[in-house]
Amino acid sequence: MTDVPTGDLPRIDLNDGTSIPRLGFGVFKVPADEAARIVGEALRIGYRSIDTAWGYFNEEGVGQAIRESDLDRDEIHVTTKVWNSYQGRKKTLESFETSMTNLGLDRLDLLLIHWPAPGNDLYLETWETFIELRESGRVTSIGVSNFEPEHLGHIIEATGVIPVLNQIELHPYLQQRQLRTFHDLHGIVTEAWGPIARGKVVDDPVLRGIGAAHGKSAVQATLRWEIQHGIVTIPKSDHADRIAANLDVFDFELSADEMAAIDALDSDGRTGPHPADMN
Ligand SMILES: NC(=O)c1ccc[n+]([C@@H]2O[C@H](COP(=O)([O-])OP(=O)(O)OC[C@H]3O[C@@H](n4cnc5c(N)ncnc54)[C@H](OP(=O)(O)O)[C@@H]3O)[C@@H](O)[C@H]2O)c1
Repeated sequence: MTDVPTGDLPRIDLNDGTSIPRLGFGVFKVPADEAARIVGEALRIGYRSIDTAWGYFNEEGVGQAIRESDLDRDEIHVTTKVWNSYQGRKKTLESFETSMTNLGLDRLDLLLIHWPAPGNDLYLETWETFIELRESGRVTSIGVSNFEPEHLGHIIEATGVIPVLNQIELHPYLQQRQLRTFHDLHGIVTEAWGPIARGKVVDDPVLRGIGAAHGKSAVQATLRWEIQHGIVTIPKSDHADRIAANLDVFDFELSADEMAAIDALDSDGRTGPHPADMN
């Protein structure tokens, strides 16, 4: 069995004075009727951060797993997101209330705008509503997902409030360097979705070789590469052995040459839609 840290995962500071574990559990496509069991397994194994969304239709299971765990609420970082069709003040408030009811929580750690959906021209109003929600105390931190520099620039200029993080598609085949540089300049943490390219890294010879040199898999080498770049990563799996293996990345270190070899795999390999095309 893998040797994973329990309860004491390394964290990264956010620009609002809070922090988030450097590795969390993503639950996109975790079936609603299995979410409580699978998230419960992740919490038992040692995950302390769960990434869900209204649009994943499994928030109820996530909430159930949190309630049924032996952990204090404060030990678990919970992220959810507002879907594109719920942007704008009124619908955003409605979506937030629905998520809180689904999750059974009275305070959320992190709320994200799921996509900018620029064609709807509502992401700024949605961001202003997020600021209200944060001021109400029911949401601790606010951030965005799939935002490009122009969208980030727009909300920052209009409100002066900088998102704590931007959750974007990122893995060895889509390294998002320009966006990461923008984040670094503004104190925004980069969070990787699809961090193992939806499983595509498994058979990569470079990643397999680097992993093997440390007694690890290609997936573990990939997650470690993200962590060493200061990127928060949120791999998903439905399987207990993989859930455990994906967390077992804190007991080895990639060398500068190994980091450079993975950096060289960048190939514009997007697996999901471009943010400009999602409305
Ligand atoms: N903000 C957004 O727009 C957005 C979009 C997509 C995803 N996300 C978030 O990011 C999270 C992660 O992204 P993702 O789920 O799309 O992709 P991912 O984590 O890159 O890959 C998940 C896939 O890899 C497989 N897998 C996981 N661990 C493995 C291992 N150790 N060995 C071999 N295969 C493994 C999983 O299969 P099994 O489940 O069968 O093990 C699943 O098919 C999501 O769950 C969600 O929370 C956000």
